[in-house]
Amino acid sequence: MLDQYAVFGNPIAHSKSPQIHTWFAQQTNQQLEYSAILAPEDDFEASAKSFFASGGLGANVTVPFKLDALVFADTLSPRARRAGAVNTLQKGKNNQIYGDNTDGVGLVRDLTNNLGFSLADKKVLLVGAGGAARGVIEPLLNAGVAQLKIANRTPEKAQQLVKIFHGLQPETQLTSGNWASLEANQFDLIINATSSSLAGDLPPLPDHLFTQQSLAYDLMYSQQATPFMLWAKQQGATQVADGLGMLVEQAAEAFFLWRQVRPKTKLVLERLRPKQD
Ligand code: ATR
Repeated sequence: MLDQYAVFGNPIAHSKSPQIHTWFAQQTNQQLEYSAILAPEDDFEASAKSFFASGGLGANVTVPFKLDALVFADTLSPRARRAGAVNTLQKGKNNQIYGDNTDGVGLVRDLTNNLGFSLADKKVLLVGAGGAARGVIEPLLNAGVAQLKIANRTPEKAQQLVKIFHGLQPETQLTSGNWASLEANQFDLIINATSSSLAGDLPPLPDHLFTQQSLAYDLMYSQQATPFMLWAKQQGATQVADGLGMLVEQAAEAFFLWRQVRPKTKLVLERLRPKQD
């Protein structure tokens, strides 16, 4: 039997992970099989247990199971613990399950390697304070940003995140606030980590947040530009990106953890990107 890997989610039918990992495996000559598993919404544990008991070596975990995976793992990487979520599982010695989170690293790699955006000394606005936002804070801080402001509809949740990550990189100014606190500020990078795009909605951000060099990044990806991306273009953002690159990069990081070989991501990203006419 080939080495078994999988992605767990609900829904999962449209996941790009099986395709991405199959391309990675072909490219690096790794003999493995990667499948998509639809776990019941209320029983991730049973589904994951059965996968690992029947020989599974590693798994990716997506919506809505990243918290369940955190609980399921026997040991956690420090970054997964701080992110409060697990997107990658690996069977280790004595069948212990190790939980990691590669989402944030995936975002930072996409920004720096694919989009050519250097994070050092930049002013960054993170919009949203849910699970997605929490998952990307640590790698942004480690990339040496000068300022990271977390703004959220419910500002108390943003404040809570500041408390969790406070002191990790003391030289970064880490602050939080509501929409009004953004007035008269400008940022080099604005990341939409809210789930508002799912509802075709947009956080009510003030005008003039972008400079002429700013990048707007939506953690979501879809065939069309999200409302946040359209808004950013109207606002004059020079560069606008969705989260497809982050998806590929977080997958590459998981693949590296499992197989100790780092796949090249550029071609995979190009193959996934719908052709622009
Ligand atoms: P996820 O894991 O995708 O981050 P989540 O933990 O439910 O999901 O968090 C959703 C985030 O999107 C939150 O920051 C939420 O704001 P609140 O904390 O105030 O609820 C934000 N959000 C969702 N819909 C939004 C909308 N229409 N406008 C602004 N923010 C929205």
